[in-house]
Amino acid sequence: MAEFLVTGGAGFIGSNLVDALLAAGHDVRVLDNLSMGKRSNLPLDNPRLRFIEGDVADAQIVAEAVAGCAGVAHLAAVASVQASVDDPVATHQSNFIGTLNVCEAMRQQGVRRVVYASSAAIYGNNGEGVAIDEATAKAPLTPYASDKLAGEHYLDFYRRQHGLEPAVFRFFNIFGPRQDPSSPYSGVISIFTQRAQQGLPISVFGDGEQTRDFFYVGDLVALLMQGLLNQQAVLEPVNVGWSQAVSLNQLLAEIGTLYGGLPQVTHLPARAGDIRHSRADNSRLQAHYVMPEQTPLREGLRLLLGL
Ligand code: NAD
Ligand code: UD1
Repeated sequence: MAEFLVTGGAGFIGSNLVDALLAAGHDVRVLDNLSMGKRSNLPLDNPRLRFIEGDVADAQIVAEAVAGCAGVAHLAAVASVQASVDDPVATHQSNFIGTLNVCEAMRQQGVRRVVYASSAAIYGNNGEGVAIDEATAKAPLTPYASDKLAGEHYLDFYRRQHGLEPAVFRFFNIFGPRQDPSSPYSGVISIFTQRAQQGLPISVFGDGEQTRDFFYVGDLVALLMQGLLNQQAVLEPVNVGWSQAVSLNQLLAEIGTLYGGLPQVTHLPARAGDIRHSRADNSRLQAHYVMPEQTPLREGLRLLLGL
């Protein structure tokens, strides 16, 4: 058993990964500045877990956190695309400088394996019905997407120059327990389900016909574990999606079915830089990883809502 660092480990995806690593018998360190993450997402009484409160933009803290670990899952970032549009300078510190700090600390300390949370956002807009494969032109529309793509380029430089083993995953839209609904910047499923639960009005940006390829967090964690633990790293980036497009209107219908109705739904102008359609071609993922059994959207929503 080995010790792994999970940056952003107090957040939604990170804390689910921490649970899986601990359950598999590994030791875990978490580096998180608690900007979105919460202590309550972590089993802090587990002696095999060490929590370091700090910022990935701080090279010194990153170096201390990386020292002596067997591999890193680098998930810390401001996950909201809209937050990067509103404050590109601040989000760049977390989303790009943080990644560079992780690369540099790993180089200095001879740690090789890193799982990187990249994003479908790097592909920009593609037509309705298009399944986006990894060779699709990169067209980042927002500071968030530019930072994620730049992070991939730097990881590739550190791979070629310094022998890092980056397992790059381009997540499509992840949902499930612990995705924090409390900010307007949060993931759409967490916001819509919380508002439906509380009977509060729901705002749809645009006509609701935009589509996303939703992927349950437990299924993602099964892949991230392989990225960290597989003997051989998969050194090409892989999309993580089910190749299924769901519109927001369809999502609302699903939520309405589960609750037996919906609160009032209001349409507001579409967000600047918002991607219209996003659906993965996941052939490469299927070729290189053991695929988890899919948790369908309805089942994932049930798990999220405890229904
Ligand atoms: P999240 O906000 O729940 O998790 C991110 C964590 O990083 C939080 O705990 C936050 O406190 C922490 N963090 C942010 N800035 C930090 C900093 N400067 N220093 C230390 N910690 C910092 O979001 P998430 O959905 O779990 O996202 C995890 C990763 O996956 C992010 O890199 C995100 O960009 C990426 N991603 C998420 C999705 C998705 O659909 N949720 C899709 C594609 C990529
Ligand atoms: C999400 C992730 C991002 C990731 C990307 C990859 C979050 C917060 N964002 O961005 O990290 O890189 O997937 O595909 O996890 N919407 C509404 N009403 C709301 C909230 C959102 O209509 O109250 C709409 C948005 O305008 C958008 C869609 O829902 O059209 C999805 O939004 P969001 O969940 O923020 O995800 P992405 O922008 O796709």
